[in-house]
Amino acid sequence: MSRIATLLAHAGVGEDPHTGSISTPIYQTSTFAHPALGQSTGFDYSRTTNPTRLVLEHTLARLDGGVAGFAFASGLAALSTVLCLFDQGDHLIVAEGCYGGTYRLLDQIFQRFGLAVSYVPVTDPAAYSAALRPRTRAILVESVSNPCLWVPDLEALAALAERAGVVLLVDNTFLTPYWLRPLEWGADIVLHSASKFLAGHNDTIAGLVTVRDAALAERLGFLQNAVGAILGPQDAWLVLRGIKTLAVRLEQQQRNAFEIAGWLRTRPRVARVLYSGLPDDPGHPGLARVASGFGAVIAFEVDAVDTARRLIEQLQLIAYAESFGGVESLITVPALQTHANLSAEDRRRLGVTDTLLRLSVGIEDAVDLIADLEPVLA
Ligand SMILES: Cc1ncc(COP(=O)(O)O)c(C=O)c1O
Repeated sequence: MSRIATLLAHAGVGEDPHTGSISTPIYQTSTFAHPALGQSTGFDYSRTTNPTRLVLEHTLARLDGGVAGFAFASGLAALSTVLCLFDQGDHLIVAEGCYGGTYRLLDQIFQRFGLAVSYVPVTDPAAYSAALRPRTRAILVESVSNPCLWVPDLEALAALAERAGVVLLVDNTFLTPYWLRPLEWGADIVLHSASKFLAGHNDTIAGLVTVRDAALAERLGFLQNAVGAILGPQDAWLVLRGIKTLAVRLEQQQRNAFEIAGWLRTRPRVARVLYSGLPDDPGHPGLARVASGFGAVIAFEVDAVDTARRLIEQLQLIAYAESFGGVESLITVPALQTHANLSAEDRRRLGVTDTLLRLSVGIEDAVDLIADLEPVLA
């Protein structure tokens, strides 16, 4: 089997039997003519299956080592559909410090329909086991938590999930299959916001799910069609196109992230740098065991709210914008943006302070990025 950089570059190649097109054709159609009464080409209606989307789904399944992949209109559409696997009265254990939209979906929507949720500290395996209830059905973690970049012990959680007979669901948006393949470590379902590194150009919203076994694949296939939160063919093509350059983008983004994280540590106005690529970061040993890279998102705390404000106002190159993973560097104030829907108390407990900034490092020259940050942090 080819190595991952080759699989990535060849995403979709050789999958068009009609013309040999190297780039996957965009099947911009809602429906498909049937050859004869009671017959089908295998494609009936694009909510159910679309050839462009299917190539993306097969690509992700291959990259993640899963039996099937499913593409959705956004990362949250993917998560909403996965949560439809569970019934009223079921219980989920969720690692704290996850994406703010995940909290919002669980607390403000799915809990209304009777799904119970317990939040546990990301890095404490005993807390997950203590939270188990008779109706616990799943454990949900992010492979690197957002925005404080804590790292859960995937091997311990996979063992616990297996012992307890519950599903281990891993949101691998921060690392992508290039750095980490959670299904290989015992996860049952992997979720990606493809809006981030996979699409990679700050131009597309998409979500992907891959699964380890055929029974789950069948249930998710049913739900994808029944809920209908699917990815359109144009956006499926954009994600496929992004995936082709994932390896080179991630290598460059991570090189820049290492350089900037090390430099940030030397700045007098920076109180703390959180990046699991730094050898003394608490997340480093755990991630180094299961992943081949650390990603390109850095969180750092500055000395005062005023420093954060001045930095955001004075940056010329790095855009003050939500999201991460694209070729252009972005900076976020999680307390005001991605995690604004949490209570002030929850934000404090989770370390989402008003002086915490999240930097998504792009593929620019690190010298220019540092020059952009330098004037305020000196
Ligand atoms: C870790 C993580 N998971 C899921 C999502 C949701 O993805 P989307 O914005 O594509 O709906 C995000 C969005 O920022 C995220 O950061």
